[in-house]
Amino acid sequence: MKYDFDTLVNRKGTGSYKWDSSEIEADVLPMWVADMDLKTAPCIIDTLRNRVEHGVFGYVSVPDAYYDAVISWFSRRHGWEIKREWIQYTSGVVPAISAIIKGLTQPADQVLVMTPVYNCFFSSIRNNGCTAVECPLVYENNTYTIDYQALEQCAANPDVKILLLCNPHNPACRVWTREELVKIGEVCKRNNVIVVSDEIHCELVMSGHQFTPFASVSQEMQDMCITCNSPSKSFNTAGLQIANIICNNTEWQQRIDRAINDNEVCDVNPFGVAGLIAAYNEGEEWLTELCEYIEGNYNLVKEFFSKNLPQFPVTTLEGTYLVWIDCRNTGQTSDEITRKLFEEARVLLNSGTMYGAAGEGFVRLNIACPRSRVEEALNRMLPVLKAL
Ligand SMILES: Cc1ncc(COP(=O)(O)O)c(C=O)c1O
Repeated sequence: MKYDFDTLVNRKGTGSYKWDSSEIEADVLPMWVADMDLKTAPCIIDTLRNRVEHGVFGYVSVPDAYYDAVISWFSRRHGWEIKREWIQYTSGVVPAISAIIKGLTQPADQVLVMTPVYNCFFSSIRNNGCTAVECPLVYENNTYTIDYQALEQCAANPDVKILLLCNPHNPACRVWTREELVKIGEVCKRNNVIVVSDEIHCELVMSGHQFTPFASVSQEMQDMCITCNSPSKSFNTAGLQIANIICNNTEWQQRIDRAINDNEVCDVNPFGVAGLIAAYNEGEEWLTELCEYIEGNYNLVKEFFSKNLPQFPVTTLEGTYLVWIDCRNTGQTSDEITRKLFEEARVLLNSGTMYGAAGEGFVRLNIACPRSRVEEALNRMLPVLKAL
């Protein structure tokens, strides 16, 4: 490999949420929060270094180069043609989702989610006065599929205004296929439900799978959809706080823009802008190697479990770097298992129930780190899981 993903970077004492939160003592291996223990692409580091050298960090006017970088990246990599006037920037995908819900719903409306799903979906829905309606995914043969009948039933409720889709899906590890997206779209179209597609994990896709932007499926899907994305997950720049909302409906855009302003998240910072431009214009080669490296880590985890812990099936990882482990054979709750792993193995994972009741019995392991750290975490976890 041209790029180095093996070197351990000490993040302790850098103000890292993942490493420096109060309960995380020196002997704990944090394998939880979804950021990577890997340095970002050298092209981004160089760009930010130059920006720092400039020395003035005043308010930002987002340049043409920013829009060009977004448009060119999605056209080149995903065959999705975006127009500049569809792009609205904000300070993160969660702020984006929050503003979209605020702009397009009335209090007491309902928002549909397919669970288990990213925990902040629930808080964004709640914080905007709406209720989440959970349509559980179906788990079979170490993977998740959609129960379209159940989805149709949920969507048919006239109070349901939005489907909040996660594509690729955290933590279900799925990269939804074009056929699946078409079926989701048909259900939503029939029931007048807007699709809000969170595509933040769209570059983190394992070999043999292909990411399809929901809006790229057809003109009809594009017209009923609002997409949120950011290079932050794939390039490990979450702290730079930048994301885009992409939508071709002017009325929706205006309502979202109003909500972004009401929420006071309309300003971005110079590092986010510069980092995004560098990632999308120069980061592709690094990203390709990153995905190969993550896939290597995943293969290690899968082989380790099938050899040493076959009673814990590992969900097939199609996308993201978040491995979803089925612990239901133990009969213990996700919270009990993560507590024991924390206390006895000193490895910190996420409990499955953070992602809705459908996550009960599962735990989530973040493998975006040097391989030696994944090995260490697995070796620490082994005796604890064996004894459950
Ligand atoms: C599906 C999904 N959406 C959004 C986010 C966070 O986005 P941001 O940091 O841009 O608010 C995450 C972080 O893990 C995520 O998994």
